[in-house]
Amino acid sequence: MRLENKTAIVTGAAGGIGAAICQAFAAEGANLVCADINERALVTTVAALKDAGASAIAVVGNAAEEAHARQLAAAAEKEFGALTTLVTSAHLDVPYLPVTELSLKDWRRSIDVNLTGVFLMLKHAIPVMAISGSGSIILIASQLARAPKPGRAWYASQKGALLSLAKALAVDHAEQNIRANTLSPGPTADDRFFSQWPSAEEAHAHAATLFGRLGSPQEMAAGAVFLASDEASFVTGTDLLIDGGYTAV
Ligand SMILES: NC(=O)c1ccc[n+]([C@@H]2O[C@H](COP(=O)([O-])OP(=O)(O)OC[C@H]3O[C@@H](n4cnc5c(N)ncnc54)[C@H](O)[C@@H]3O)[C@@H](O)[C@H]2O)c1
Repeated sequence: MRLENKTAIVTGAAGGIGAAICQAFAAEGANLVCADINERALVTTVAALKDAGASAIAVVGNAAEEAHARQLAAAAEKEFGALTTLVTSAHLDVPYLPVTELSLKDWRRSIDVNLTGVFLMLKHAIPVMAISGSGSIILIASQLARAPKPGRAWYASQKGALLSLAKALAVDHAEQNIRANTLSPGPTADDRFFSQWPSAEEAHAHAATLFGRLGSPQEMAAGAVFLASDEASFVTGTDLLIDGGYTAV
C-alpha cells in the first residue's frame, strides 16, 4: 500500500493511460477523484474501480473550463478531506499536420485542453494540496517532446512546455513540500495509439522502441505510482521517461 492516505485527482481518467494510473493508484490504497469529458467511459472506469474495492468518484467535465478544475479540487476536499496528488492525463488530439497546414482553430483548441487545462487544474489543486502539507504533481508529457515525429509540431511544443512547466512548479512550490515532475510515455498500446494505424500489427511495427514492441499502460502507471509515492520524496523538477529506449538512438 504505497499510496495509503493519499488522495489523487486524475484527469483523462477514462483514457488508456489515465485508467491504468487509476487502477494502479487504487491498488496501492489511494482515494481517487477521476475526471474525464467522456461520461460513458468514465462511468465504466469508475464502476470497475469500485467493484475492485477502491474509493473513487467520477466527475465529468471539460478540462478547458475553469469551473471544472475548481469542482475537482473541491470534490477531493469534500469527499476525502485532502488532496495530495495530481495527475494530468487529459489530452485532445488534433490533425497531425505541419504548422503550415494546421488551422489556427485546431492550434488553439489543443492548447486550451492540453496546456490551459493543466494550468487551470494546477491553479485550483495546489492551494488544496498545500493544506495537506505535501504533494506530488505528475504532468503526463510524451517522448515526442524530445524526438518529434512529422506533423506533430503542435504536440511536441505542448509536451515540451509541460517539461518546462514541471520544473517551474518544482521551484515555486518546494517550500510547500510539493514535488512536480513530468512522466513521458513512449508509444503505448492503447486505443489512442492503435487508432493511428490501420491495424494492430502496423501499430506494433511502428513502435520504434529498442524492444520492438509498444509499452503497456500498466508500465506507464508503474512510473506514476513511484512519482506519487513517498519513495520519490527527493524527486522533483525532472522527467521520468518510460519509452523503451525510443529516444536512446
Ligand atoms: N498512448 C500513447 O502512445 C502516448 C504516448 C506518449 C504520451 N501519451 C500521453 O498520455 C496521455 C494519455 O494518453 P492516452 O493514450 O491515455 O490517450 P486517451 O485518448 O486514451 O486519453 C485521453 C483522455 O482525455 C480525455 N479528454 C479529451 N479531451 C478532454 C477534455 N476537453 N476534457 C477532459 N478530458 C478530455 C479523453 O476523453 C480521454 O479519455 C496524453 O497526454 C498523451 O499525450 C500517450
